[in-house]
Amino acid sequence: MGGAIVAGNWKMHGTKQRALRFCQALGRADIRAEVEVVVFPPMAYLSLFAAATGGLAVELGAQDLHPLPEGPRTGDISGAMIAELGGRWALAGHSERRIHHGEDDALVAAKVGAALAAGLKPMLCVGETLEQRQANQAEAVVARQLRAVLDAVGVAWLSQGAIAYEPVWAIGAGVTAAPGQAEAMHGMIREWAASQGAQAVRVLYGGSVNQENAAELFSQPNINGGLVGGASLDAGSFLAIVAAAG
Ligand code: PGA
Repeated sequence: MGGAIVAGNWKMHGTKQRALRFCQALGRADIRAEVEVVVFPPMAYLSLFAAATGGLAVELGAQDLHPLPEGPRTGDISGAMIAELGGRWALAGHSERRIHHGEDDALVAAKVGAALAAGLKPMLCVGETLEQRQANQAEAVVARQLRAVLDAVGVAWLSQGAIAYEPVWAIGAGVTAAPGQAEAMHGMIREWAASQGAQAVRVLYGGSVNQENAAELFSQPNINGGLVGGASLDAGSFLAIVAAAG
């Protein structure tokens, strides 16, 4: 298993100015070699990020991609385009895509397959809603989301890519899963992946990670870092979260 990963998901935020300032701050930072740092900027800024982080120990990714390699799909972006612009990763299955764009498990699986075909490392997001947790379905939902992808594309990629467990009720909510609650789900994910033959899986936690709660979350044995939304927009707080991993 590799080291920890701390990834920033900018979602649909930022400006060119903000992106440049952020990259300059990353350039001044002393990022420990054992933490992999990944940033998912808005697609419109991927080139800018690639130019401004050249030579830094930072990898970039796209927040979404289309399952087809090319074609008449107005507004969509292919894995090859992402790779050409300097992306190494692609998010798939983020709950905001599942909810606001109606992405189902089959489409998420196809996107993971497309990322792999383009040589990108997928970061597969899974997680339950509050209603599902309250109905004691959290583990079943996450297992279903994982199974859909692994049945479609296998498990081999997991040693390169990552899984992000992001309980939907914790995203952008200012409330995180309790460390023990997250750890229990991460343990389940790791056990399930191992039972499918994937021994080396990085399982990140996402959902209101910030510089105050990161260290305790990352100290859980089955939490290998985080996928950070809001707190990744500010270089200072993002770097403090990176420093909490290792
Ligand atoms: P958040 O977002 O840190 O703002 O909760 C996390 C995510 O959606 O990846």
